[in-house]
Amino acid sequence: MLILAIESSCDETAAAVVKDGRTVLSSVVASQIEKHKIYGGVVPEIASRCHSKAIVGVVDQALTDACVTLKDINAIAVTYAPGLIGSLLVGVNFAKGLSLATRLPLVPVHHIRSHIAANYITSAKLTPPFLCLVVSGGHTNIIEVKDYTKFHIIGKTRDDAAGEAFDKAARTMGMPYPGGIQLDKIAETGNENAFVLPKPQVAGSKYDFSFSGLKTSVINKIHNANQKNEAVHIEDLSASFRKTAVEYLIENFFKAATDYNYKTLAAAGGVCANSFLRKRLAEECNNRNWNLYVPELSLCGDNAAMVGAQGYYEFLSGNIAGLDLNAYATKEI
Ligand code: KG4
Ligand code: ZN
Repeated sequence: MLILAIESSCDETAAAVVKDGRTVLSSVVASQIEKHKIYGGVVPEIASRCHSKAIVGVVDQALTDACVTLKDINAIAVTYAPGLIGSLLVGVNFAKGLSLATRLPLVPVHHIRSHIAANYITSAKLTPPFLCLVVSGGHTNIIEVKDYTKFHIIGKTRDDAAGEAFDKAARTMGMPYPGGIQLDKIAETGNENAFVLPKPQVAGSKYDFSFSGLKTSVINKIHNANQKNEAVHIEDLSASFRKTAVEYLIENFFKAATDYNYKTLAAAGGVCANSFLRKRLAEECNNRNWNLYVPELSLCGDNAAMVGAQGYYEFLSGNIAGLDLNAYATKEI
């Protein structure tokens, strides 16, 4: 079965053709980073306008790269939630128009579900159930993947997402948007024990996170140093921040895996491109002889191949939308 998948939830316009949920025939991603960089973050209206401009060309390119035409496609999958509402609406309405014109079934895909499904592309033998750590610019969740379309959240962030904390800490240290990847690189040459930073326990939950205190403590260290005209060792602060954030994710994730009795773990989302997080996940799983699955780097950030992967399993479970499908800025998985 061939799915044409469309993703436009944030600042990437993407389209892909995916076979049977596991094989990527094409994957095109048009990034808007350069447009948003000067503002230090994504500007929603600019994002929507960029999607409007790019979407026809991106979908066309995905079909061309896969050497197929719309006649070969069996269903259209689209990200409908959660994300920037104006951005989502561009993809959803484009997919609806295409579905109306071709009479192909329209499959709505939840963005977090698709991040998790990136693992099905990278690892052919991964099947649910497993426990997944989802870490992106907008989400930080520990999720039981009970089946392809059955999920249960056991841990979440109470404030900032992990990626948001990485990006804000990086911005305070003068790195360009999106700073997470820069901070990761700069941290390689720093001393990870140079600064002691907070890992707050969240009242009432063993598995929830709070990243705002960690982010604020980095911001305060930079501001205090600026006021006193002192230099801050950016490499050391980056390494200390990265270590604290990653160990915090690891602690709660492995606590949850132990308590809920999972020995097959996965990670997903833009932050799971972080080199230290990937290293620490592998170490902890090796020590316990557990299975670990992480998407290849090109599938960690937003892309449409993962939408095609999840779209396949949504289609099989009967999740077909009508042409009144709407987009939602927030929606439970
Ligand atoms: O999944 P994603 O592309 O978009 C959302 O759904 O939010 O995640 C983007 C996030 C950004 O915050 C970005 O800085 C972060 O992933 N990120 C990283 C790394 N690469 C991307 N954070 C830490 N280390 C990285 N290497
Ligand atoms: Zn995402």
